[in-house]
Amino acid sequence: MPCLPDVPASFLVAHTRLTCPPLVPEVQLHVADDVVALWEAMETEGVGAGDAPPFWAAAWPGGQALARYLLDSPATVAGRRVLDLGSGSGLVAVAARLAGATSVLASDVDPCSHTAIRVNAEVNGVSGVAVVGDVLDGDPPDVDVVVAGDVCYDRDMTSRVLPFLWTAWTRGATVLLGDPGRKYLPGEGLVAVATYDVSDVDEAQPRRTTVWRMP
Ligand SMILES: C[S@@+](CC[C@H](N)C(=O)[O-])C[C@H]1O[C@@H](n2cnc3c(N)ncnc32)[C@H](O)[C@@H]1O
Repeated sequence: MPCLPDVPASFLVAHTRLTCPPLVPEVQLHVADDVVALWEAMETEGVGAGDAPPFWAAAWPGGQALARYLLDSPATVAGRRVLDLGSGSGLVAVAARLAGATSVLASDVDPCSHTAIRVNAEVNGVSGVAVVGDVLDGDPPDVDVVVAGDVCYDRDMTSRVLPFLWTAWTRGATVLLGDPGRKYLPGEGLVAVATYDVSDVDEAQPRRTTVWRMP
């Protein structure tokens, strides 16, 4: 079960640190230096820990790469409606709005992520980001661009995400994935549009991370 939907913003702010992801100094994010300690605090302080770690408390390499790409290539999203799939902290959603997207729908299955997205959007002075839960079982929302940072982190998630993204693509959306070389993401059919070396949450070495576009 994910954590309770009413995780207060005050808890999130109290247990995270406001900083800029290394590759995206334009954006401030509430992140946890120790995600496991945060997860434990969620349990002991009655927020509800759920069975997944607080992914929303980190700027994942794929998300950093995608955010960097959007800020450097704003025409990708400027004047367009964007879906940020697996939004986590909302980093990519915030970057999309800063790059000129008319609206962003930020989807995440974890209700705690919804609080994080709202808090992080606000701290960056960004409006126009709506949050929504799991959309993978339905038709893709009516958007022009779908961005997905680091969503191929396990087999099950990848097997749900990729068909959804290809459906969005066949319906005319531009689809971009940020991925640090995870084994579940097949490269075939995808075009690399940018590559970055990104500092990861708990890795000593930067990770070579690619922004892929469906052709
Ligand atoms: C590795 S994190 C990446 C977060 C963010 N995109 C980034 O790059 O920093 C993956 C995110 O996908 C979310 N997620 C998992 N299953 C999902 C689903 N079915 N729909 C939407 N989000 C999902 C998780 O809760 C998590 O926040």
